[in-house]
Amino acid sequence: MNILLIGSGGREHALAWKLQQSRFIENIYVAPGNAGTALEHKCKNIPIDALELERLGEFAQQKNVELVIVGPEDPLVMGIRDHFDTLNIKCFGPSAKAAQLEGSKAFAKDFMSKYKIPTARYGTFNELNNAVNYVKKSRFPVVIKADGLAAGKGVLICQNEVEALTALEEILEVKRFGSAGNQVVIEEFLEGEELSFIAIVVKNKIFPLASSQDHKRRDDNDMGPNTGGMGAYSPSPLLDDDLNKRIMEKIMEPTALGLIKEKADFHGFLYAGLMIDKQGEPKVLEFNCRMGDPETQPILMRLKSDLAQILLSTFEENPEPVIKWSPDTALGVVMATKNYPYDYPKGQAILGLENTSDDAKVFHAGTKLIDNVVEAHGGRVLCVTSLGGNLKEAQTKAYKEAQKIKWQDCFFRSDIGSKGLKH
Ligand code: AMP
Ligand code: GLY
Repeated sequence: MNILLIGSGGREHALAWKLQQSRFIENIYVAPGNAGTALEHKCKNIPIDALELERLGEFAQQKNVELVIVGPEDPLVMGIRDHFDTLNIKCFGPSAKAAQLEGSKAFAKDFMSKYKIPTARYGTFNELNNAVNYVKKSRFPVVIKADGLAAGKGVLICQNEVEALTALEEILEVKRFGSAGNQVVIEEFLEGEELSFIAIVVKNKIFPLASSQDHKRRDDNDMGPNTGGMGAYSPSPLLDDDLNKRIMEKIMEPTALGLIKEKADFHGFLYAGLMIDKQGEPKVLEFNCRMGDPETQPILMRLKSDLAQILLSTFEENPEPVIKWSPDTALGVVMATKNYPYDYPKGQAILGLENTSDDAKVFHAGTKLIDNVVEAHGGRVLCVTSLGGNLKEAQTKAYKEAQKIKWQDCFFRSDIGSKGLKH
């Protein structure tokens, strides 16, 4: 069978790596892919952008693609699943309507309020004066979010009124995030520890994947700006049976049922970014309509079942995918280019990849293969991911391998996993 995988990040390299292990798969076309997917067994990069829906459809028809898997959110929000539906090609990903859970934070907050899903108190504004008045009445810190897609960067945690007013002006007036900032959500700051809970959701059926924890801030000790994620591990020591039950009953089940009531077809990965407070109560920080990056890398390192078989089985009448996990812990350290998430230099040669051992799998994100040289072209460039008998062992292995790789302006956090070791 031939598969078309959409995207070019670390998540997509991990998906490609796992999918090529399936005996059901002959070819994996990755549009547009990166240097990692270019070098992966059974994979071929296709120079079509993830947002060129017409061309992707034509390509899939020409190559007898039977399954399309969508990595990132933008094509989902744009309607890629709906497009492949019209071509009668199976596409694993939610409809554009359901993808609004990620595509619009205002939509997601109103949806949670309607279906009584626990989340931070909030207000939604498209007019600066009203937003300013709300902020003036708020307790600090306050969290200000651009409504639309902003690659994980449109969330600003403001410690005082001056910071909040600056953030509102930047988003609503200066349009720092373009039209994604036509509206803002202002919400209460939640305390606790973050947990990524990702499940395959097919209408009212929910099949949870292994839990994980991300590291959103750029610098050690959770300092610096928010990023897409600087490293992750799986499983999370936070998730016991009791918390799992609460998340399913209070969050995942009402979300799946709410989507059905809204006539928003969900068939894909649903990612709930949760804050777990001191009492162990979960609240939703955000929904994503796809897998996490970098959470996918450690999660898939632990998956023992055939991923292609799992995804294909979800298209059967009564899906019952078999999903088995290794009891080991996996941890991924993101290697990025200096100054990410702001502007960063591109085109620096990555050295030392050949020196890494089987103790880690090096997943590529912003890389390009140019004249047989792997170059850094993104903010997040690699995710060095290891399996270990416990979190400490996985951490030690991943850092040992990461130390062997460098490019001129490379950096990484030195404390991925350290919070988990305190449990
Ligand atoms: P989001 O894209 O909405 O998940 O926000 C990105 C990151 O900002 C989250 O992973 C949290 O680290 C932080 N964040 C978002 N909303 C809140 C909140 N209400 N309270 C505390 N931190 C938040
Ligand atoms: N790592 C967070 C995300 O994928 O949104």
